[in-house]
Amino acid sequence: MTASVRGAQVNAVLATPLARTLAERIRAAGPIPFAEYMHECLYHPQFGYYSKAETGRFADFYTSADVHPIFGRLWARQFAEMWDVLGRPSEFFAVEAGAGTGRLAGHVLDFSAQKLPEFYGALRYFAVEQSVARREKQRDTLGIHLENGTARLAAELPRDIPAGCIFSNELLDAFPAHRVLVERGRLREIYVALNGETLTEEPGPLTSDEIEKYFQQQKITLQEGQEAEVNLDACEWIMDAGRRLGRGFVLTVDYGYEAVELYNERHMRGTLMAYSAHRASEDFFAHPGEQDLTAHVNFTALDLWGRRAGLGRTGCVSQMAFLVALGRGNQFADLYDEGASEVERIRARLLLKSLIHPEGMGETFQVFIQHKGVVQPRLTGLSGV
Ligand SMILES: C[S@@+](CC[C@H](N)C(=O)[O-])C[C@H]1O[C@@H](n2cnc3c(N)ncnc32)[C@H](O)[C@@H]1O
Repeated sequence: MTASVRGAQVNAVLATPLARTLAERIRAAGPIPFAEYMHECLYHPQFGYYSKAETGRFADFYTSADVHPIFGRLWARQFAEMWDVLGRPSEFFAVEAGAGTGRLAGHVLDFSAQKLPEFYGALRYFAVEQSVARREKQRDTLGIHLENGTARLAAELPRDIPAGCIFSNELLDAFPAHRVLVERGRLREIYVALNGETLTEEPGPLTSDEIEKYFQQQKITLQEGQEAEVNLDACEWIMDAGRRLGRGFVLTVDYGYEAVELYNERHMRGTLMAYSAHRASEDFFAHPGEQDLTAHVNFTALDLWGRRAGLGRTGCVSQMAFLVALGRGNQFADLYDEGASEVERIRARLLLKSLIHPEGMGETFQVFIQHKGVVQPRLTGLSGV
């Protein structure tokens, strides 16, 4: 281990119970890889950001699913078309990974029940969420659909998914990432160490050969001094999802880039961000367990690792292109609730704007779709390109 990478980071190490727990661990056994630190910050069973009930979460950030039900309604239309493309199997598994409190699930299911009754008859919705607290919340959100057997709650992806779509919204950016740095021409991993009473970063040896292979396989060479994230869990996850899927699609919505862009000179310090009170910062050690940490997704890696499990690339478009392609068929009539007043309609149109605005969520988020057991599928959501 050598000098600190970002020595300027100032933070109170004993600020949270998790900070104290991690400080003790580091004191006893030495620095921990950043990926382990991020894992504990987000998923520590007691103190992890995502292990706790969601109360107060909007204080930090919101996702597209929180903005307006139109997001889920248009996804429902896309799933119904996928069901058609697959030849209308008697059961269509819609498997939502990282379903949180079930907000998106509720919107997809309610809309399908009301507007797409034939599809709803075939729909088997699995809301997959590892956090017990969030799964409990889903019970309230999905009531009727759980009672009639259309929806199920699960902690893991179903073992076999004969026909359907495995999808996620902002899941993979919340997987713990390894962080690396190029130092004198060599790849080094970033660890979390203790400097007095302060958590700090320092480079050390790579924790896995897979990290070097990850860059080689994508023909990526980082520059001297460059920092970057390596999301090995996302590679494992996409392979696992592909293996479980018989026929159908994997749809991933997230912040991200192709590898050539993710690792170019515009991202010399990587893409890791901490979110707290709607502010993004690079102070990853402020309030461990009480702020969100995310790193952009590498779609090239999802493509490469997905291929190993039989997934082909269907396409990748911005969230704006995806939602506009799905909504324009009926001039976004799905935006309005029955009997909505003019004021409510105006409000709905404004919220739609924030989902598709090119300087906001519309271009920040990408929709990446892969398929298996279907030949050159054509999907409306991708038709804008
Ligand atoms: C950023 S939140 C997104 C929640 C939701 N999709 C939304 O758009 O509001 C990520 C969610 O994924 C869950 N999660 C993370 N890893 C998971 C895994 N391997 N399996 C299931 N859920 C997971 C977290 O507990 C958290 O609820």
